[in-house]
Amino acid sequence: MSHQIAILAGDGIGPEIVAQAEKVLAVLQQDMGLSLDLPTGLVGGAAIDATGGPLPAETLELAKASDAVLLGAVGGYQWENLDIAIRPEKGLLGLRAELDLFANLRPALLFEQLANASTLKPEVVAGLDILIVRELTGGIYFGQPRGVRTLDNGERQGYNTLVYSESEIRRIAHVAFSSAQKRDKRLCSVDKANVLECTELWREIMNEVHKDYPDVELSHMYVDNAAMQLVRAPKQFDVMVTTNMFGDILSDLASMLSGSIGMLPSASLDVNNKGMYEPIHGSAPDIAGKDQANPLATILSVAMLLRYSLGMAEAADKVEAAVSDVLTQGLRTADICAEGDSAISCSAMGDAVVNSLRARLQ
Ligand code: IPM
Ligand code: MG
Repeated sequence: MSHQIAILAGDGIGPEIVAQAEKVLAVLQQDMGLSLDLPTGLVGGAAIDATGGPLPAETLELAKASDAVLLGAVGGYQWENLDIAIRPEKGLLGLRAELDLFANLRPALLFEQLANASTLKPEVVAGLDILIVRELTGGIYFGQPRGVRTLDNGERQGYNTLVYSESEIRRIAHVAFSSAQKRDKRLCSVDKANVLECTELWREIMNEVHKDYPDVELSHMYVDNAAMQLVRAPKQFDVMVTTNMFGDILSDLASMLSGSIGMLPSASLDVNNKGMYEPIHGSAPDIAGKDQANPLATILSVAMLLRYSLGMAEAADKVEAAVSDVLTQGLRTADICAEGDSAISCSAMGDAVVNSLRARLQ
């Protein structure tokens, strides 16, 4: 059976990191006999330049027709002054919304070889294995009304709306509880229920859904405390579930526990596990085109894609093992270099993963 994966490289370092992931996919096709169709599409700033909008209808059609989407990154300086409604980021948000990718899984896992790359002490982060489940199609990112209005006194006022319906909370709760069931069976729901009614409801629904998963231990934590605890004692967490914006912030924080934001993959899934896969870092315009970026988060996103959307756990394991191999070999891109290490390029890192993967597939 052939699978179609839409490749949306996007902007900044997107094309160079996605090129490394494509090399990995090519090895899986050649050496493992996977049959893949890999059409490409435009999204973000690249799409704005070519078509005038960040999410052309063609790209959306392609994404809908594919079994999965692999995305690089969107955004860059040259589009920062555009109206927020047509900025590159809207391409990403549009894909998430249109494909109903409400469940964003962001694993923060420390490869033991990188214990020294984190800014935190190795003993604080060694053995770290957290899964952040972020609600991705609701909350303040999408709530209406939104905008900037002019008040009667002539002053401008910006406003956004934090809104969650019960069904939105319930479906992300089920994803989080069932993820916890497959791991250490501990779920921490992160909210701001002491201040925000919307997240008071969030907490109530979490407690309700918990009844379906009696084997999972549920705890609740306010988001400010969760940020503090993630730095103080991150290993206390197994699975965390939270709202769209809190998840955006906490997942960047958690990424530094694993050494670098350049290491963290993500999966954004719909109710049928159809998904979009992307590194959680952005387009890093400052290093774009310099062949310096870390492609490992994108390559690890390919592993998640194989695991969740294509049901190919064995291939996913091999890709993850190949990443671990190159770290064991001491190969480092600039972002994960410890003092005294010398950095290799993005493409050299991609080649190294390809070589390890080939060796493992022999
Ligand atoms: C992320 C990013 C996006 C988000 C941006 C690029 C819109 O920060 O995937 O975490 O805020 O969701
Ligand atoms: Mg983010």
